Amino acid sequence: MTVVFRRNIARMEGYVPGEQPRERDFIKLNTNENPYPPSPKVRRAIFRELGEPLRLYPDPGSGALRRQAAMTYGFDPSEVIAGNGSDDLLAMIARAFVGEGDLLACPTPTYTLYDTLVRIQGGRLSGIPYPDDYSLPRGLAAKKARVTIVANPNSPSGTSVPLRALAELADAVPGVLVIDEAYADFADETALALARERENVIVLRTLSKSFSLAGMRIGLGFAPSRIIEGLDKVRDSYNLNRLSIAAGTAALADIAWMERNAERIRNTRGTLVAALPGVGFTPFPSRSNFVLARRTRGGSARPVFEALKRRKILVRYFETPRLAGCLRITVGTDEEVAALLGALKTIR
Ligand SMILES: Cc1ncc(COP(=O)(O)O)c(C=O)c1O
Repeated sequence: MTVVFRRNIARMEGYVPGEQPRERDFIKLNTNENPYPPSPKVRRAIFRELGEPLRLYPDPGSGALRRQAAMTYGFDPSEVIAGNGSDDLLAMIARAFVGEGDLLACPTPTYTLYDTLVRIQGGRLSGIPYPDDYSLPRGLAAKKARVTIVANPNSPSGTSVPLRALAELADAVPGVLVIDEAYADFADETALALARERENVIVLRTLSKSFSLAGMRIGLGFAPSRIIEGLDKVRDSYNLNRLSIAAGTAALADIAWMERNAERIRNTRGTLVAALPGVGFTPFPSRSNFVLARRTRGGSARPVFEALKRRKILVRYFETPRLAGCLRITVGTDEEVAALLGALKTIR
């Protein structure tokens, strides 16, 4: 017997998620989680689902969550789809639009899962490098891709492009434009209006970051109902579990809780960005809950990453040519950021 994978699967590397240490004593600034807990209403909603209701399958269409999302963001429920995290929605988009040999275009560097998902489909990723100022690169539309994805704000740069540039791109691309707004609650603008107005725009949101629910895996997609109907065909039938549907619905109903935490994180981000040059790092302008920063005197960021890890502080470092010498630091609490800055002072 021979075990034969499809050629593209055999050839590809799997996606490697950020490190999730087993010990809880790390200051964890590596995967852009929220340092504050979710709304207490989430806890109550989860408790109501525990026990007897778990006997039954969840609502396959996550109806309660989609209705609440539609109300919160001003859509019709037929224009909303729920995912097991926004990663699940990205996978649905790849399944629905990217076939063997098809092209997906995106500015780079960006979220590396896009590349993995395209490879699984046997498609091709066409990356166009961001210019040094991380404005939207020219030439994205000229790629004539089935799907164009822009993470806005982008990861790992933390930068954002103006809504006006995305509106122009939506008009120029021949296919679908996906705007991945995982970090939009920490930014100044949102493209949700484009998902209402344009036939070809999908806006993705996640409850993992601003709503402090990374552990529940809840993503939302907003698009014209014709696109939602297509995505629904490739969705796993019960893609959200009962606890996630209840948690997400309660979190969206308590938007003020999320906004308060996002505001605290934006304030701490300001402190971090202002202090980084004093500890040897030059920050990129961030509109997210993390900051990318490059070693001012050059050289690899790996020794800094390792020295921080020994001090039980976890961040991300990059070694690709474009991001050489860069750390990506999630904005934690004021205390966590103070600990990080104190450690960086001693490491230099
Ligand atoms: C740009 C971007 N999109 C999507 C995601 C995935 O989020 P989720 O937890 O909803 O799957 C991430 C997570 O880090 C991200 O950085």
